[in-house]
Amino acid sequence: MRGLFITFEGGDGSGKTTQSELLVEWLEKQGRTVLTTREPGGTELGEELREIVLHSRGHITPKSEALIYAADRAHHIATKVRPAIERGEVVVQDRYLDSSVAYQGAARGLGTQEVRRISLWAVDQLLPDLTILLDLDENSGLARLPGSRTRFDRLEAEQSEFHRVVRSAYLELAATEPERFLVLDATKPIDQLSEQIRTRVASILG
Ligand code: TYD
Repeated sequence: MRGLFITFEGGDGSGKTTQSELLVEWLEKQGRTVLTTREPGGTELGEELREIVLHSRGHITPKSEALIYAADRAHHIATKVRPAIERGEVVVQDRYLDSSVAYQGAARGLGTQEVRRISLWAVDQLLPDLTILLDLDENSGLARLPGSRTRFDRLEAEQSEFHRVVRSAYLELAATEPERFLVLDATKPIDQLSEQIRTRVASILG
């Protein structure tokens, strides 16, 4: 079976985790072996980098932040994701390089082209077969984060303008690569969204 690389993108609180869990359940019912993973994190080194980039108390410059995400990504793709795809598995991943383009490239102002180039270099040009963008306006996204959440991470703590820019950058990315992106309105009911995702994935699986 051909390996497949599917990524979920969207603002914080857009429901990526719920939808990726439902997709994984369905894929496994289809008899596929699935690797579920995430960025930042996903490897031992990645979990350490995740802690630094999300919870560091000291200041991190934007370029340094972008390079930590890229370092995490380089290691994660080389040691975990690419081997799984080559074994014929389906990789379902929470966030990938589009997050860096939207958060660091657009919202931090580093430049979307530059950040995309750095990310692609880090992963030897690996792009997903499908990227599901759960689109949600910035204010409802953060409001939907679990009430049990006691602290926002460094990115979540940014102002609403930052998250507005993230959202519009995502939509622009999706418009430039319509064949890779499936853009969904994240305010729609969970079942409706998961159905749309399954339909698209089924069409790729053939
Ligand atoms: P995520 O794992 O989705 O957060 P949580 O588990 O708290 O829902 O992502 C953590 C944060 O990292 C999120 O605010 C977006 C940010 N991020 C970037 O800024 N650039 C990146 O390249 C990635 C992968 C994430």
